[in-house]
Amino acid sequence: MTTIGFIGAGKIGSQLARLSVQNGYHVVISNSRGPETLAALVQELGPQARAATARDAARAGDIVVVTVPLKNYRSVPVEPLAGKVVIDTNNYYPQRDGHIAALDDESTTTAELLQEHLPLSKVVKAFNHIYAAELTTHGQPAGTKHRRALVIAGDDPEAKQTVEKLLDQFGFDSVDAGPLAEGWRIQRDTPGYGPRRTATELRRDLAAAKRYADM
Ligand SMILES: NC(=O)c1ccc[n+]([C@@H]2O[C@H](COP(=O)([O-])OP(=O)(O)OC[C@H]3O[C@@H](n4cnc5c(N)ncnc54)[C@H](OP(=O)(O)O)[C@@H]3O)[C@@H](O)[C@H]2O)c1
Repeated sequence: MTTIGFIGAGKIGSQLARLSVQNGYHVVISNSRGPETLAALVQELGPQARAATARDAARAGDIVVVTVPLKNYRSVPVEPLAGKVVIDTNNYYPQRDGHIAALDDESTTTAELLQEHLPLSKVVKAFNHIYAAELTTHGQPAGTKHRRALVIAGDDPEAKQTVEKLLDQFGFDSVDAGPLAEGWRIQRDTPGYGPRRTATELRRDLAAAKRYADM
């Protein structure tokens, strides 16, 4: 039985935890305030779920989702995530996260920052461009015509396969944008960020994405 750990159990974390439980996974959820503040969500999720500290959730997960405001990425525990697939849903909003020079000058990407912080983990960017509510309403079985697709990016091909399988179980096709460095193609203000897209449409959006410097 695979366990999915969650660092962050807000809008996206709670929705992905629901999808995980619905698809037979165990989940260990965490937030910044402590496990006792997650009692209602644990009760809703049922016996496959428990709450823990971020460190324990990281340790318990076979796969771990990091879904916190980007400004807090440096507090994600490093050692318990070594060797693991880490799914990064995070986006950069300077008004929320403060200015990060390497993102402002586009010399790196959000998921590369997390990968740098977690050098022994296999970071895969995913679920960053879909509204939280749609995670549980837009999924459809594999093979459905016009099925919604979501972008992944990552430097480890095996880790990407793991996440593609998860996406498929959760009801979505996937489109591989390439390495983490290409993740900017699905950042805020790009054509694919937000709207419902099929795989074909999303590939077109990725190709049409522009750097801030070129807008
Ligand atoms: N909302 C969306 O539709 C959406 C869609 C795609 C991607 N995203 C991105 O995904 C990330 C999460 O978004 P969200 O909307 O789910 O945010 P959110 O509702 O504000 O939830 C953030 C979660 O992270 C937890 N957290 C904050 N700092 C933490 C830390 N240092 N250690 C452990 N947990 C911590 C919070 O816990 P406390 O409440 O205890 O502080 C909360 O559970 C963001 O980067 C966002 O841009 C959001």
